[in-house]
Amino acid sequence: MNSVSQAIESRRSTRAFTKEPVSKEQILRLLNLAARAPSGSNTQPWKVYVLEGDKLGVLCKKVCAVYDSIAKQPELTKEYQAAYDYYPQKWFSPYIDRRRENGWSLYGLLGIAKDEKEKMHIQHRKNFEFFGAPIGIFFTIHQELGKGSMLDYGMFLQNFMVAARGEGLDTCPQAAWNHYSKIILPLIGAQEHEMLVCGMAVGYADQEDIVNTFRAPRVAAEDFTTWLA
Ligand SMILES: Cc1cc2nc3c(=O)[nH]c(=O)nc-3n(C[C@H](O)[C@H](O)[C@H](O)COP(=O)(O)O)c2cc1C
Repeated sequence: MNSVSQAIESRRSTRAFTKEPVSKEQILRLLNLAARAPSGSNTQPWKVYVLEGDKLGVLCKKVCAVYDSIAKQPELTKEYQAAYDYYPQKWFSPYIDRRRENGWSLYGLLGIAKDEKEKMHIQHRKNFEFFGAPIGIFFTIHQELGKGSMLDYGMFLQNFMVAARGEGLDTCPQAAWNHYSKIILPLIGAQEHEMLVCGMAVGYADQEDIVNTFRAPRVAAEDFTTWLA
């Protein structure tokens, strides 16, 4: 395999990180590489906020506190809505089946059974600590941009994750943060017109943690491709 294939193949969503630091120079280099992504009319819709140290710690504490309070008072959920629908309003096959398989395989690996709400809460909460990563990133977009810009954004995000893997780093893209944008956006100094696209944990995978042995399966190309000749 060439190095690009290797980076793509070995990337996975990492859900436990070591504290090994990552330099500002490295993150900026990777962001510059990611920004080579194509975008419609070269609009480059990305805006990026990188957090580390105290700034990361303070933000995580605030969001974790709200996440915990929602568990005690579920009616608070409606106050914390994501700015855009990442998932469909109503799930359907085969997507719901893949989602379930993914969730239960991961929880199964962690020994979390279907009725263990508290354990699920603890696991999901790790999102709001960037899974222990030394670097947390938030990505925003101008909310007036079109759907196509989200397509461009995905290419930028994947470029970043693959480039990071190429340098031995690990990542986890995180839509879980999106529900808390009204806490996050003011804290990072975003402008009124910015919408949170997602967060991302960046660092080195903790190889000792069982969660990182999870390898999500894929449908084979032969099964999702129609060949016309
Ligand atoms: C935009 C985006 C948002 C995601 N949000 C989360 C998240 O909030 N928390 C999480 O643990 N995984 C999140 N994931 C990871 C997916 O669950 C993961 O990509 C999928 O299960 C496939 O596994 P892999 O990335 O290891 O190949 C997200 C992935 C993407 C692309």
